[in-house]
Amino acid sequence: MTQRRILLIVTGGIAAYKALELVRLLRHKGIAVRAVLTRSAQEFVTPLSFGVLTEDHVYGDMFDLKEEREIGHIQLSREADLIVVAPATANVIAKMAAGIADDLATTVLLATDKPVLVAPAMNVRMWHHKATQRNLATLRADGIAIMEPGVGAMACNEWGKGRLPEPAEIAAEIERLLDEGDLPRPLLTDTTRTIIAPDLSGPTLHGRHVLVTAGPTHEPIDPVRYIANRSSGRQGFAIAAAAAQAGAKVTLVAGPVSLPTPRGVDRIDVETAREMLAAVEGALPADVAIMVAAVADWRAADEAPQKLKKDGSGAPAPLALAENPDILATLARHARRPGLLIGFAAETETVVDHALAKRARKGADWIVANDVSGDVMGGARNSVHLVTAAGVEDWPDMPKSAVATRLVERIADELAGR
Ligand code: C5P
Repeated sequence: MTQRRILLIVTGGIAAYKALELVRLLRHKGIAVRAVLTRSAQEFVTPLSFGVLTEDHVYGDMFDLKEEREIGHIQLSREADLIVVAPATANVIAKMAAGIADDLATTVLLATDKPVLVAPAMNVRMWHHKATQRNLATLRADGIAIMEPGVGAMACNEWGKGRLPEPAEIAAEIERLLDEGDLPRPLLTDTTRTIIAPDLSGPTLHGRHVLVTAGPTHEPIDPVRYIANRSSGRQGFAIAAAAAQAGAKVTLVAGPVSLPTPRGVDRIDVETAREMLAAVEGALPADVAIMVAAVADWRAADEAPQKLKKDGSGAPAPLALAENPDILATLARHARRPGLLIGFAAETETVVDHALAKRARKGADWIVANDVSGDVMGGARNSVHLVTAAGVEDWPDMPKSAVATRLVERIADELAGR
């Protein structure tokens, strides 16, 4: 496993000393830490202490030309897996919300394309001030993760909310976010797609159209009820994101999920299996289709125009089901069949056997099989087997984002070899 790295931004407040304990805990977990101290943080704690604990250079002032020559603020903001602001003062939160970049810490925060976690610490009145709450709402809407401060006695003899969360809590949250691995990188708007540098290290998907389905479908029973399943859409969204990152034009047909649209992806939202099929057919031709959606096998045969009522007699529910179209199988037989057609097989037992059978039955080129008997559905990690004409590959358990990247690399290799 490659080493997990965070960039820790320490801002000025009495809680800054607790950031030293945080560094110690993170190092203990095997996480590398590089620290940036604002000018006011340095009034409370010294760069020397952080240097000793991080075993790395500590960064302070953007206008130190020597530092900019050694490592620029852009590089500093990109080389970590996660940026953590702890403690985050009301001041730095306000600057982040406004996009102000007037020192190294805030410049890094504005330049980064990495996920950001904020651990606030401030006086209770500053915490409850409308301006601070407004700024926090802005950061949340931007996709920044914010920890709840603790409640208790303040350094200034007041009592209330605003204490820095305990270093152990922050360390645990950092580890959780790093292990999930598929955090949104929310801070850039969609217009930045033109500045995503293509990854030129291997085969790419430039010039290819990749079609992905993701999420569940909702099949209405009556005006208030529907048939659904536990799919979160995360694996499909991660694949769409990875394909866009590899340079493809990506169409993502998504069932009802609450996930942000990955950068560079064209998204079509649908509710039902039949709508999903229509959107998929409308998006053809495609070089690759990856059908990740957990499409409902059945829908209500007739959608009731009014809410169905029980009559109290204990009679069976007046619910007849009809089979939904199989989108994957339909594409396999389609006049405009994508050159590489990939299905998913979510199974709770004899996973690989079912996947081998499914590949043949549905006419897919590859099947990605996963065991959903645990908490895969809705979870952040996945353990899959790739079934191709050449045989079965067992991939180790990894974050869904890593499954996505590896699958996209395999697809690019396959298309390059044709
Ligand atoms: O038959 P099963 O639902 O297990 O097959 C799973 C695969 O088939 C997935 O790739 C899923 O997206 C696709 N599928 C589909 N349309 C359906 C049912 C499944 O495209 N109606």
